[in-house]
Amino acid sequence: MSRFAGHKALVIGGGSGIGLASALALASEGAEVTIAGRTQAKLEAACAATPRMHWIVLDASDEAALEHCYAQMGEVDHLVLCANAGGSIGRFETLDSQAMRGYFDNKLWAYLYALKHAGKLVKPEGSITLVNGAASQFAAPMMAALAVVNGGLDAIVRPLSLELAPRRINAISPGVIDTPYWDKMESGARESFYQAAARSVPLQRVGQAADIADAVLFFAGNRFVTGSVLLVDGGRHLTPNLS
Ligand SMILES: NC(=O)c1ccc[n+]([C@@H]2O[C@H](COP(=O)([O-])OP(=O)(O)OC[C@H]3O[C@@H](n4cnc5c(N)ncnc54)[C@H](OP(=O)(O)O)[C@@H]3O)[C@@H](O)[C@H]2O)c1
Repeated sequence: MSRFAGHKALVIGGGSGIGLASALALASEGAEVTIAGRTQAKLEAACAATPRMHWIVLDASDEAALEHCYAQMGEVDHLVLCANAGGSIGRFETLDSQAMRGYFDNKLWAYLYALKHAGKLVKPEGSITLVNGAASQFAAPMMAALAVVNGGLDAIVRPLSLELAPRRINAISPGVIDTPYWDKMESGARESFYQAAARSVPLQRVGQAADIADAVLFFAGNRFVTGSVLLVDGGRHLTPNLS
């Protein structure tokens, strides 16, 4: 299939997990895709699989670096935001304030900078897709800092859809997805966490990066949807009383 033949895409945070799955899916449908992240070796390895994948080193929490990256890219058809180096998880009163600021810089501010300058990067007929997070969509203990970031980013989708129209801007709120995001957990603890997460959703499994990439392709390809936030969470929002 070549639904995106002749299209250019930039995936920020595209070196692993959801970003990489989205980049590969766009490339497999004909797009020329540049993945951006902070670790060159990871980006190079990710691009080895297909000639339509390119990489650029970027720390998206640095506004000047982001503007430089956009200038190097020229215009693109699709911008996908997937960067995150891990959230502040735990009871809110116990969270380290500096660590929380670091998390806000790395995800909230990175996405805000990316959106602030997106009008210069994304073609008027193009799309911007935020891979955000479902933590703000239900009451989940230990996830208050994630709820702040994801809730804020969900909230910016609608006003920016008006400001940047006719560019289409949408967000995806994933539930728990099996990606390197959780690699900081020891493997036994991660497996227990995945099992508990699977039990807490009607669809009885954790998500895969491909589940979210599928939604990214939908938003990139559909020309009549904007200002939407799509939950791709296995139905977690339907089971608010489960932890
Ligand atoms: N996995 C889940 O369960 C889950 C659930 C809800 C929401 N999400 C969201 O989904 C998005 C993608 O996460 P993922 O699960 O695919 O995790 P991942 O595999 O860890 O991917 C995140 C990518 O972002 C890059 N990155 C981190 N900080 C960056 C920065 N400042 N500038 C540029 N790139 C940066 C990382 O590479 P470098 O470190 O090399 O830069 C990494 O490749 C994130 O926004 C995450 O919050 C994930």
